[in-house]
Amino acid sequence: MSQGLSVGQHEPLKIKIQSRTAKVGVIGMGYVGLPLALLFSEQTFPVTGFDIDKKKVDVLESGGSYIYRIAPTEIQAARSHGFTATSDYAKIAGMDAVIICVPTPLSEYHEPDLSYITDTAQSIAPHLRAGQLIILESTTYPGTTEEVLVPILERGNQHGLRAARPGMQGEDLFYVVFSPEREDPGNDTVARRDIPKVIGGLDPRASELGSQLYGSIFNRTVPVSTPAAAEMTKLLENIYRCVNIALVNELKLLCLRMGIDIWEVIEAAKSKPFGFQAFYPGPGLGGHCIPIDPFYLSWKAKQFDFHTRFIELAGEVNTNMPYMSVEAVAAALNREKKALNGAQVLVLGLSYKRDIDDLRESPSLTIIELLQKRGAIVSYNDPYFPQVGHGRKYDLNMACAPLDKLDEYDCVVIVTDHSDYDYPRIVRESKLVVDTRNATKGIDSPKIVRC
Ligand SMILES: NC(=O)c1ccc[n+]([C@@H]2O[C@H](COP(=O)([O-])OP(=O)(O)OC[C@H]3O[C@@H](n4cnc5c(N)ncnc54)[C@H](O)[C@@H]3O)[C@@H](O)[C@H]2O)c1
Repeated sequence: MSQGLSVGQHEPLKIKIQSRTAKVGVIGMGYVGLPLALLFSEQTFPVTGFDIDKKKVDVLESGGSYIYRIAPTEIQAARSHGFTATSDYAKIAGMDAVIICVPTPLSEYHEPDLSYITDTAQSIAPHLRAGQLIILESTTYPGTTEEVLVPILERGNQHGLRAARPGMQGEDLFYVVFSPEREDPGNDTVARRDIPKVIGGLDPRASELGSQLYGSIFNRTVPVSTPAAAEMTKLLENIYRCVNIALVNELKLLCLRMGIDIWEVIEAAKSKPFGFQAFYPGPGLGGHCIPIDPFYLSWKAKQFDFHTRFIELAGEVNTNMPYMSVEAVAAALNREKKALNGAQVLVLGLSYKRDIDDLRESPSLTIIELLQKRGAIVSYNDPYFPQVGHGRKYDLNMACAPLDKLDEYDCVVIVTDHSDYDYPRIVRESKLVVDTRNATKGIDSPKIVRC
């Protein structure tokens, strides 16, 4: 037992975690929650997945999967260890630990939309039990766990239960932790187990329980002093990426003007064994994290009369990149004495990065819309998306075009560099290729315009 902790109500849960009998509920069966549920299930914990999306629950209950990189056999293996999925929040009462993995998008005014977290907290609260461990994993601004989640849980439960804070004793306590998800979708070089898990408990007992629970599926846990420190840690990591990507995007634009190959420069800079980490330019930011999370912090900073200038500047540079890609297509067509208006353009890749089936905030969607607005007749190809309908910010209603008649397009634009694509063939068979990702590296052809 850790120094300074008295024997208390968290002891029974510690024993259950040690013996892998603690019932783990994961709320939000999406890109984060489902793999996490499977990790606990692999370690033979009894796991229940909660989701308000009945279709997802039905797929999981029938042993299927809706995430490309998770095979149905993995769901079936989990089910044989007792994994079930449900939309019934009453089952929260039977859980020992509850991990919340719901979305944290931005509103249309670029402000944090915490409605998924508040809805979830309101749904959990009536079923809360003393001794339970509640963990928030959704990325959010510092203060969310303590200022938003905890008050809803405390107000909404019928038994007057309180979140354990330092020095509090009693039979009416539950435990609260923030622990950010750090997954890098599509990155197979680091096993999920090897990604250290940061843990910020509202109370040392909560941190201890969190470390113990996550310690059973991750090789290392990194405790920090408060939930806010853990929330800020996640934002620092993502802001670091966002700012560095913006830097390299801006330098790419300068290099294009100066006739220097930015990719060659990055490769050379990478040879420095210290003090440099490579980031790569592209057609714009995508995904649920990097384009969104930094603005959670700039919003919160305003409460402290603080202006996060790096975040704003990086956002400005990165937001401009899809527009620059469309300009590059127009210039390439112009070189061929063609106008963008009326041109047949094929966009390769819809997902926001290589080899994944996630198109949230994808720059491809923006590029397609911008091309259409300029009069281009746009098709797309992406092996991960046979169709694309409409989402929060797009309404495309298109079907994936085959790759067999590339010479029918005036221009093929590589937006996502999936590794399944045969780039030499694409260049050979197309009339003109605009490459936003350096996917055609090593191919020498006057048809290629790198931007
Ligand atoms: N996807 C990533 O790579 C990644 C990486 C790190 C952090 N995160 C963070 O993790 C969180 C979840 O992201 P995600 O990518 O898994 O999102 P997602 O959209 O893939 O999944 C969220 C799931 O939550 C469900 N849901 C929404 N409201 C609910 C409610 N009230 N009750 C139960 N279920 C509900 C949705 O139906 C959906 O299935 C976000 O805060 C995100 O920023 C994501």
